[in-house]
Parts: sequence; C-alpha cells; structure tokens
Amino acid sequence: MSQFNLATTNYNDDMNTYTFAVLPGDGIGPEVMEVALEVLKVSGEKFGFNLDYKNADIGGIAIDNHGLAFPDSTKVICEESDAILFGSVGGPKWENLPPEEQPERAALLPIRKAFSLYANVRPGLLYPQLTDASPLKKERIPSGIDIVCIRELTGGIYFGQPKSTKILPNGQQQAIDTMVYQTSEIERIAQVAIDTARARGSKVCSIDKANVLETSVLWRKVVNDFFEEHAPEVELSHMYVDNAAMQLARDPNQFDVLLTENMFGDILSDEMGVICGSLGMLASASLGANNNSHGHPFGLYEPSGGTAPDIAGMGIANPCAQILSAAMMLRYSFGELKAASAIEKAVEAAVTSGTRTGDIAFGLESVDTVAMGTAVLTNL
Ligand code: IPM
Ligand code: MN
Repeated sequence: MSQFNLATTNYNDDMNTYTFAVLPGDGIGPEVMEVALEVLKVSGEKFGFNLDYKNADIGGIAIDNHGLAFPDSTKVICEESDAILFGSVGGPKWENLPPEEQPERAALLPIRKAFSLYANVRPGLLYPQLTDASPLKKERIPSGIDIVCIRELTGGIYFGQPKSTKILPNGQQQAIDTMVYQTSEIERIAQVAIDTARARGSKVCSIDKANVLETSVLWRKVVNDFFEEHAPEVELSHMYVDNAAMQLARDPNQFDVLLTENMFGDILSDEMGVICGSLGMLASASLGANNNSHGHPFGLYEPSGGTAPDIAGMGIANPCAQILSAAMMLRYSFGELKAASAIEKAVEAAVTSGTRTGDIAFGLESVDTVAMGTAVLTNL
C-alpha cells in the first residue's frame, strides 16, 4: 500500500485523463455500452476529467473478425489502458463451438488471467422501490437488499492443474478438475473483503466447505489469521456454502460482505443476482494485482447479466448495469469517487421516479434503452 492512498482522495491539480478499453462484445452489449459511454462523457464534463477510450473486439464478434475470442490486438489495447469497460459475450451463433472455444470461456477466463484480476466485486443491490422485482416475499426484504459478494477469481477449481479428460485402460472416460489455493491467494482476497467491509462499516462472512474440502480448511484458517492480524475490528463469521445458499434465500440482509472462493462465488453471486430482481441492474468489478498509470487498481468492469440474445438489437435492454459498472470503474480504477456516487444516485433517482425498462417496469409504462439513459443523464 502506498503512503498516499489515492483511492480515498478526489482532488487533482491538473485535469486527469483516464484511458480505458471499451469491449462491447455481443448481444445487447453494444447497445447498453453506447448509453454508458454517454453517461461517462457527461460525468467527465461535470466533475472535471477527460476520458479517452479505444474500442476492441471480444467474444463472439472477435471470433468472427479475428478467429479468436480474445485476440492479441484486443489484449494490447487493454494493456495500454487504465481499465477495461466490458459489455457481455456469447450467443446462439457460437453455441456449437467446442466449450473451450465458446466466447464466455475463451474470452472471460483468459482476460481475467492475463491481467491477474483476482478480486471480483459483485454488489447485490435492490432498491426498496423495486422489491416487486425480487422473487422473495416483500416482508423478507422490506427495505430492499444491500450486500456484496467478494469472489476470488483467478484460482481454485477454474484454473487448478491437472485439468484433463482421458480414456482409462478399462475404456471409461475420466475427467479431472483440481481445486487448489495457496496462502497468498487467500490473503489478498481477504484484504479486499476487509477494505470493502471498512468502506461499508460492517462485517464479513467467509463462505467455505471446511467440513469436506482441504482447500476450505486452509481458506478458513488463513482468513481467520489474516483478519486477526490486520482487521481485528471487522466482525468475521464463517458459513458452509450449502447453508449460505439457503440463508441467502431466507434472509439476505443478515449478510453484509460475503467472501468466498471462485466456484462458490460464481454460484452464490448468481443467486444474489436473482434475489435482487433484474440482472439488468447489477454491476461488477474485477480488480487486478497491478496498479494503472494513476496508481489505482487496474480493473475490468462488466454488467452481471449476459448478452440477452432474445432482446438483442431491439433497443429495449436495461442499460443500468452497464452504467453502474462504468461508475465502479470511476471509483476503483480512476479514484473519481464523487462522479461515481453521482452516477449511482442518478440511476437510483431515475428508476425510483418511475423511468423503467421492461425488466423492471411492473405495470408502469416501459421505456427503451436510450430513454432510460436520458433519464439517468437528467438526474446527473
Ligand atoms: C461469471 C460467468 C463466468 C464464470 C463464465 C462465463 C466463465 O458465469 O462471470 O460468473 O463462471 O466465472
Ligand atoms: Mn457466473
């Protein structure tokens, strides 16, 4: 940690210029990206910073144009940037490719690894006015939901070796994935959970399967030791992942910050997505081990929802998740906290005052992608 923690300051002598790579991807990605870029531009004018971005192909469109879901030309543009603003990848067109060549796996996993994006921050936020969007009963979430999942993103069973399929002498096929963690990987993600909890002023629940898995036994021990040494004031608890899945559905607000390994986080964050209503509202950040040219973490910012092929091209997708992902980029990678909060407040104001895309309309008249963006801009 540097002597001056730039992430908590928000004043600059000169007008900063932040560079970022724009990877809209497939499906609704390009439509919602356009709106998010407009919001970013206006926030730069309002809060006094310049934004300089370059577009590049990722996912299915990159397979079509370059033969690879994550081409080198895209990687170079990302390397020259302070952050990556990501849309979404995949769609029916590429579904018949072998799994390891499909856009999701062949773009997302290598880009996470290439930039050591080990910390996935997924806020689970449901405004009280939108509780109708949640499948949970209203009385369980009277004031909405406000939790956040910190998921380890570059280790565990996703990347562990050996990972292979072979034919055994008896003719059976056998497949192996390996779940593996070492101390330093657990400590650095624990630090992100601590920082997040401190910013929110509350507590961390670490999720594992320590009644069965060796990696979880280590996880729990390292998390305990690390919190004891570095954050004794942050309340820490532990929960088995099966119970956590149940508790999330029963009473999500008993949690504040969830801390967990890669695969558990994948599953729990989808559950969090559904209890928070529409995926069209959920942003995410994947933060790296490396700092950018402004001394802040390099990161990749993407909506939690997918490419929504059923509505792609119709101009009706909810742009809020992409806009909120852009706000996270301003906060974590550029240190522009005021601008980030202003965008978040503008989205909340637009939605709660009744401007809604179809996914969150519930009887109200619904607006299209561009009109939703305009409402956010009006509130900014
Ligand atoms: C996610 C996705 C990815 C993951 C897939 C598409 C590789 O589900 O970002 O949660 O499993 O991490
Ligand atoms: Mn997932």
